[in-house]
Amino acid sequence: MSQLDFSTTLGNAWFPTPIFTASGCASSGKELAQFFDLRDMGAIVTKSIMTKPRAGRATPRMAETPSGMLNSIGLQGPGIDAFLANDLAWLVEQKARIIVSIAGETAEEFASLARRLRGVAGISALEVNISCPNVENRGMVFACHLESAQTVIEGVRRTIGGDLPIIAKLSPDVTDIVSIARGVIDAGADGLALINTVLGMVINPNTMRPHLGGRTGGLSGPAIRPIAVRAIYQVHEALPKVPILGMGGVSSGADAFELILAGASAVSVGTASFGNPTAIMKIQNELRQILTDKGFSSLREAVGFAHRPESSVR
Ligand code: FUM
Repeated sequence: MSQLDFSTTLGNAWFPTPIFTASGCASSGKELAQFFDLRDMGAIVTKSIMTKPRAGRATPRMAETPSGMLNSIGLQGPGIDAFLANDLAWLVEQKARIIVSIAGETAEEFASLARRLRGVAGISALEVNISCPNVENRGMVFACHLESAQTVIEGVRRTIGGDLPIIAKLSPDVTDIVSIARGVIDAGADGLALINTVLGMVINPNTMRPHLGGRTGGLSGPAIRPIAVRAIYQVHEALPKVPILGMGGVSSGADAFELILAGASAVSVGTASFGNPTAIMKIQNELRQILTDKGFSSLREAVGFAHRPESSVR
């Protein structure tokens, strides 16, 4: 029997396996590296980095919900200088494949981050996080407004030049995700990360006040997987040539397979890693087995399979 080709691509970036971390759920990988070799997964997607160090939102910042969790971190991070000197340098030493996620308060900040990252060795792609829900001003959720989303992506594309793939991370909290997806691709993105967390809230019945310091938070975990599957399916249907990094509640190989069938070329694992730091390896092994059992000779053959007519079902 021939060997499964498990590799994938996002734009011109090649990865030997399709399972990545999700931005924000594994920082820069140091904690996960205690459990497995980072080179054994597709790529690490770093926590979104901003121009300056940032303390993030007031605590509490997390809440468990049925089949999910809310986070209200608020883009805490060391800022780009410390990130380049410490985190990125360390990741390059590990020979991990690296997708750097960036976030800004303005389009200019995104462009200045792109300027700092231009030509830096060891980066496979840039994730442009235009969809963090944990910002004080909803106007800063660029991915909820077509023009703002396009302005950010145009600025990053212009600054970074033509070679490094740009993956725009979109929010599910919009009426028509396909129009935003099309807009950012037209503006120069090479691929899409679908989906960021869903805006939610928990009220504590004892205090009778919002539980989270930031009041609202981003819902992740199995509860949002059907939303991710729907968004990926809709976007792949409209833009079949655009690579999608899928995410949202994946905790098994079967979950990852579902996102791939919908149209994802790679899958990020986030919330599942909090409960089980080796979840990524487990999911990767399970996915490889499922693809083999279903008779696929490559991952690529399975991408978007759910869009094919019934007659082609295996
Ligand atoms: O609050 C946060 O740092 C989350 C970021 C995100 O979901 O993009």
